[in-house]
Amino acid sequence: MPAKLNIAVLASGRGSNFEALALAATKDDYPARIVLLITDNPGAGAIRIADRMGIDRKIVDCGPSRGSMSVESSFKMKEYCTGKDVKLVCRAGFMRIVKGPLLDEFAGRMINIHPALLPSFKGLDAQKQALDYGVKYSGCTVHFVDRGIDTGPVIVQRIVPVKQNDTEEKLSARILAEEHVAYAEAVRLYAAGRLSVDGRRVLVDDPQGDR
Ligand code: GRF
Repeated sequence: MPAKLNIAVLASGRGSNFEALALAATKDDYPARIVLLITDNPGAGAIRIADRMGIDRKIVDCGPSRGSMSVESSFKMKEYCTGKDVKLVCRAGFMRIVKGPLLDEFAGRMINIHPALLPSFKGLDAQKQALDYGVKYSGCTVHFVDRGIDTGPVIVQRIVPVKQNDTEEKLSARILAEEHVAYAEAVRLYAAGRLSVDGRRVLVDDPQGDR
């Protein structure tokens, strides 16, 4: 079995996607392992998960500008990642737009999860946007990170129905369960070297020919 690919996860909050990835990676046949959690929030639940699972974690002060990050913090995060020989960076509920040295270093090697079917409902409160719009289906998207917000090529999407009596909380919970599956699948495909990008399209190497 080839060596596992080293992954860093960026998370600002609860950390359930981080946990789902970390759990998937505990399986012997999973092609990736989580070597680092980076957070901008000293109170993030993700820190407790990392400590419980024995995963190295770093807290980086990303500066006061909400949603953005200072060049210094981006540089520090890049250094932490390269120091651990990270090959893929996974944003999982990281509440800042990544730019600067970290994005430059990991261009094409950074992915994100978004709780809607992109290109619909980009940005914050995607589940509420979907409810307010009145769509009958929503879901989640794992995509490569580019210089835009939720605009990079799509790797995996999973669909959930929107029900008549849904609240934002109910819909978010239904989507979140699918996020955990989608993220583990996308990382598995990437780490196994099965993805290639052709313009906007992400192609999956598919020996069975059923994709
Ligand atoms: C998820 O819904 C993710 O799609 C969004 O932020 C949320 C993070 O949740 N970007 P968690 O911290 O992974 O539990």
